[in-house]
Amino acid sequence: RVVVLDFGGQYSQLIARRIRELGAYCEIWPYTTPPHRFQTPSVRGLILSGGPSSVYDADAPRCHPEVFELDVPILGICYGMQLMVQELGGQVERADRGEYGKALLEILEPDSPLLKGLQPRTQVWMSHVDSVKKLPPGFRVLASTEATPIAVIGDDARRRYGVQFHPEVVHTLEGNRLLENFLYRVVGMRGDWKPENFVAAQVESIRREIGAGRALCALSGGVDSAVAAALVYRAIGDRLTCLFVDHGFLRKGEREEVMHTFQKRLGVPLVLVNAADRFLRAIQGVVDPEEKRRRIGHEFIRVFEEEARRLGPFEFLVQGTIYPDVVESGATPGAPTAVIKTHHNVGGLPPDLRFRLVEPLRSLFKDEVRAVGRELGLSETIVTRHPFPGPGLAIRVLGEVTEEKLAILREADAIFLEEIRKAGLYEVIWQAFAVLVNSRSVAVMGDERRYGYTVALRAVTSEDGMTADYFRFSWDFLERVGHRITREVPNVSRVVYDITSKPPATIEWE
Ligand code: XMP
Repeated sequence: RVVVLDFGGQYSQLIARRIRELGAYCEIWPYTTPPHRFQTPSVRGLILSGGPSSVYDADAPRCHPEVFELDVPILGICYGMQLMVQELGGQVERADRGEYGKALLEILEPDSPLLKGLQPRTQVWMSHVDSVKKLPPGFRVLASTEATPIAVIGDDARRRYGVQFHPEVVHTLEGNRLLENFLYRVVGMRGDWKPENFVAAQVESIRREIGAGRALCALSGGVDSAVAAALVYRAIGDRLTCLFVDHGFLRKGEREEVMHTFQKRLGVPLVLVNAADRFLRAIQGVVDPEEKRRRIGHEFIRVFEEEARRLGPFEFLVQGTIYPDVVESGATPGAPTAVIKTHHNVGGLPPDLRFRLVEPLRSLFKDEVRAVGRELGLSETIVTRHPFPGPGLAIRVLGEVTEEKLAILREADAIFLEEIRKAGLYEVIWQAFAVLVNSRSVAVMGDERRYGYTVALRAVTSEDGMTADYFRFSWDFLERVGHRITREVPNVSRVVYDITSKPPATIEWE
């Protein structure tokens, strides 16, 4: 693998993604990673990311100096290059003004392995204030721009390279070629990162980790836990038990689909716990959304605990933690501390239920998880599934949750999603769902005035759920859905469409 050493740059994830798109397996490690962790044959090359600091800042992030002595190729990008220059005896200076945006790079050494095949003059994208003023011993200038004479540097013998611009952004037109050169001409990667290789490698490492032990996995119906479970099942077979807790807030047909996929298609031992009554009781009369979440989370842990005791003992707990979860929770990738994913997974278990965590997807992005899921034979419906909150429909019925309201919401939601699938829009939308609003409105049905429910529809596009924009349906589409819902779902007399983006509005209504 290639490791991106992260100095807090905004593009670290993008670098990793480009590397994988180019066919090499890549992980992001924090700059504080101790040097001995790199001393394994599986680390074949290092990329030092950019970062917001200046190498002169007293609190500038610095990796251990021994990193620069490692016998692997290193590519420093922006801050990463400047740090390498400083550590290896060169000099970095603050320029009068920064250079931001497009620049024309002139190649001085077209035969350097890093720059082979690039146009003699090529557009790159810069974002820096500091610049390299003096090269460390052994380095040569390989390319320049007008404002930055030392824009690409290299020491072919020691396989150390630095670029001042950002090859990972699309505005650097030949950035991929440069990264490809680093991977294949400098590092000598094989270019075989494919889902099947990931599966094979993980199966082996899970077998080693779990040995003869038993593992438990709570399925949520979502992509991540499903893929993690299928992967661990491939590794240890029946020594994995999956637990599927139906808390009664699932969407229409969801339970059947999970049961079908896991039991029938994959043959995974699955224990279904039908706990709808106790969850509904737990949130009876509760209107505050956070209180709903808290109680559902609490109840979930209780159910989980009971079942783990009944079915156990288990030494291992499988979780579908993926890379963005690790980053969002501020944990260090690869660190032993367990990241407990949202409420719906397991936190705060009693001491006699200590598990060792197995998190085989920790280094993957969502689309990679999907690719691995396909490789494992999961259905397209599960693999492409929209994110769904742990507390489920309980936070989409605004205010007090009752069985009647859940039934109405389930039907309206199913119609909306069915029409979205029919229109071929499911995969361009990040999340789409119906919300049952907690105020009624007047309706005239036949000759009668009725006081019916209002259903709100929400559909958003997003990259990561942190920001989102509402989806622009055609009026015809919205009319069709609205018409079907008022006609087919009893007691719904009004349908509205939510046109707010995030921010200011969150994706969910509660
Ligand atoms: P918001 O509503 O905060 O949602 O814009 C961002 C993403 O998080 C999901 N979400 C949750 N997921 N438990 C979860 O597991 C929750 O309590 C929860 N609340 C929101 C939401 O569906 C969206 O994908």
